[in-house]
Parts: sequence; C-alpha cells; structure tokens
Amino acid sequence: MTQKLLRGRVLTFHREPRDGDDASAYTYLEDGAVLIKDGTIQRLGTFDALRSAAPSTPVTDHRPHLMMAGFIDTHIHFPQVQVIASWGSQLLDWLNNYTFPEETRYADPDHSARMASKFFDQLIAHGTTSAVAFCSVHKTSADAFFSEASSRGMRMLGGKVLMDRNAPDGLRDTPQSGYDDTKALIEQWQGTGRNSYVITPRFAITSSPAQMEMAQALASEHPDCHIQTHLSENHDEISFTAELYPQARDYLDVYQSYGLLRENALLGHSIHLKPREIDALVETGAHPVFCPTSNLFLGSGLFDNAGLRAKGITNGIATDVGAGTSYSMLQTLNEGYKVLQLQGQSLHPLQAFHWVTRGNACVLGLEDKIGTLDAGTEADIVVLNSQSTDAMALRMERAGSLAEELFILQMMGDDRAIAEVYVNGVPCKATLSRHVDTDENSVTSREDNLENTDISAVFPIY
Ligand code: GUN
Ligand code: ZN
Repeated sequence: MTQKLLRGRVLTFHREPRDGDDASAYTYLEDGAVLIKDGTIQRLGTFDALRSAAPSTPVTDHRPHLMMAGFIDTHIHFPQVQVIASWGSQLLDWLNNYTFPEETRYADPDHSARMASKFFDQLIAHGTTSAVAFCSVHKTSADAFFSEASSRGMRMLGGKVLMDRNAPDGLRDTPQSGYDDTKALIEQWQGTGRNSYVITPRFAITSSPAQMEMAQALASEHPDCHIQTHLSENHDEISFTAELYPQARDYLDVYQSYGLLRENALLGHSIHLKPREIDALVETGAHPVFCPTSNLFLGSGLFDNAGLRAKGITNGIATDVGAGTSYSMLQTLNEGYKVLQLQGQSLHPLQAFHWVTRGNACVLGLEDKIGTLDAGTEADIVVLNSQSTDAMALRMERAGSLAEELFILQMMGDDRAIAEVYVNGVPCKATLSRHVDTDENSVTSREDNLENTDISAVFPIY
C-alpha cells in the first residue's frame, strides 16, 4: 500500500461553469490536499482534515502552487514530433511536402520507439497526462506508442492511421492490411493497462471506399473503441473530398454513410460545416475537436465553438501537434481564446480550465476515470506555478481572484508553469531539487519548508 498526501491549492470541476460566478461548478481549496493510495485518489479536502484522517501519511507540499487534474489532449499526431514548425503551406501541401515524408520513417521500429519516448516526455513536460493520438500507417508505430504508454502507466488512446491512397510509397496500407493490422492492435492493446485503441481512418482523401468499408466493419465489431478522423479543416480538402466521394451529400456524409459517427467518435477541426452536417453531429453525438494553434498555423479557419454548443454539441479541444504549434494545453487555450475573440465569443478562464480537464474527459466518456480530483478517479494531477516566469510573477502581483490567476496561466503559461505532474500518483516531472519526500512520518519537504508559513505572505489569498 502506497499512500501519500499532496498539499497545495486545489481546483477541481464538478460540471462546466455557466459563467465566472458559477462557484458551485467547482471546488477550490486554498489549503487543500489530495490523498492518494495505489494510484487512485482516495479523498480531496482541506489539508487539516486529511492530515488528521491520515496522520502518518507522507506529505508532499506543493504550496503555493495550484493542483488540478492532468490535462487531456483529444487530438495529437505522435509521428509529427519532428514536423512541428514546418514553414509556409496550408493543409494539403503541408501534408505532402512535410508530413507524409516524415511519417514514412515510422516503418522503422527503432525510430518509432525513440520518438515515442520523446513524445511522452513532451506530454509530461507540458502537463498532459492523457491524449488521443494518431500514429503512422505502420503497425509498428502504434506498438511503440502503446509500449511507451504502458511503461509510463499513462491513460492513452491511439491508433494506427488507415490510409490506402493519395499518399507516397511506404505510407499506404490496403483495405485488408489496414483491417488486419488494426484487429491485431486491438487484440493486443485495447483495455490492457490504461490503453484504449482508436479506429483511425486518417481522412476521406486518403481512404478509398473499399477502406471505408473495412473501417465500418472494424467500428461495428468494436463498439467500445473510439473512432477518430479529420473533418472540414480546409476548403481545398473539402473540394477534393467532394470529387472523391461524389455521391456524398457533404463531407460528413462520407463518414456517416460508413457508420463511423457515434458518441465515441472524434472529428478533428470541423470548421467549415454545413447546416446538415451540424444536424448530423447532433443526431449521432459525435464530437468536433477544436485545434486552435493548428487552425491558425495552417490558415484553416475559425472554429465556431458557440454555434456548435448552441445546438447541444460538446466539443473537445486539442493541440493537433505537429500542425499545432505547441504541446501545451495552456498555449492551446491561449490561441483558442483569440480564435473565439475574432468571432465575438469569449471563453471564461474557469470554462477554459474545465475544458482541458473534465470537459475533454466527458468528450471521451472517461469522466469517471480522469479529468477531476474526485475520489475513486485515477491520480493524474498537474501542479501549476503561475509565477513561473518574471513576466507572470509581475502580472500575478495584481491578480485578485482565482479566475484572474487562471487567465494569466492560460495566456502566459507554458511548460515552465508545470511544476510537477503525477501519473497514477507517481511524480514524473523533474522538480526533485524543490521537493523530496522524506520518511514515512514526516511532513515534507520543500527546501523552503512552508509547513508553518503564512501562505498569504508568499501568495495572494482570494
Ligand atoms: N488531415 C489529414 N491528416 C492530417 C494531419 O496530419 N494533420 C492535420 N492538421 N490535418 C490532417
Ligand atoms: Zn490532426
């Protein structure tokens, strides 16, 4: 039995805040604590209450930092770690000139394994504890992805892309090999440890009708698997899709007609949607995923968050590295805020932090496992330092509320603001010089032990 108590300011959401005054949507504790046992959150409460309930439990003191559930990224490309920041083109040229050539390298298992390790390092560094990833077309890339996820004990979702046309040699499967490889991967990884397999037809342009039929078979044989693809990201992509699928009523109808829309389906981008497509999203419960840094980087367009939400659709938010330009969900919120501003929509920081934690968990149907600090959920936790740069510290001197602090983190924060990350209760980010667990019976731990310090002297109290 490994039990530990993390002390710090604590924030967790119970539902999406309606607005900035909706205090019952979340719990915020100024001197809070999370009691963890064997990778599961046992209790959330004030430090005093949890300390008296578990007096001999070792304490890691994260004050004055803010603890919340680890971030969840609902759309990211693992084989694009060396594509990020590739200059000068929009979607189709970017794919052909940079991305497809790079992804051919993932046929090599050694390359896949090395990149998987680097990829997960980046996720942890940026406070992301769960992600939904596209692997390359090669089975070996998905094996590398899940092996690395398993060895780190992270809750991860992913799948090899199905793509059998409009791509270079070395980056195409066939309807049959795509089906067979996916079956083998599901057999090996789905539900093992914290892994989930995602059936992944890359997008309509790179899958023939014959492959779409195979994807449909996979989806109906595995209703528990998520499905992910791309939808209506770019005007040239939409026109080419219409040429390739002339019988489809619109882009979404390609996926709909092959039975790929359901509540556990994720549709990256979903920018340029027609009214019929929006109705179909409502009917099927499939989830659009907003990828702001990517949409700005590729000049793809502005995601209509408020318009889709007004119809009752629940959207995810994600980095889409490597068209996305940062692994950071904080920077994703920063750019997301601006994309919505351009449309007269404003994202409140409480809603923003709900979105990258519990909100994305709900999109994945995993809110009973991740995305909150509720008792019984998995202990994936991020510790945030809102004074991690001089500029942030300066701005924080004038912060008068939790919402203001969150907004500073959202607009100015990046991996430097991630003081620590717990995966399944285990600290993963190297901050060891700053807090070290000591023996069983002692309260820890930071060099500047804050146990008896007046917290207001070092940090504003709201
Ligand atoms: N559409 C199909 N593949 C991709 C991809 O890798 N990135 C983005 N942004 N869009 C895509
Ligand atoms: Zn993508």
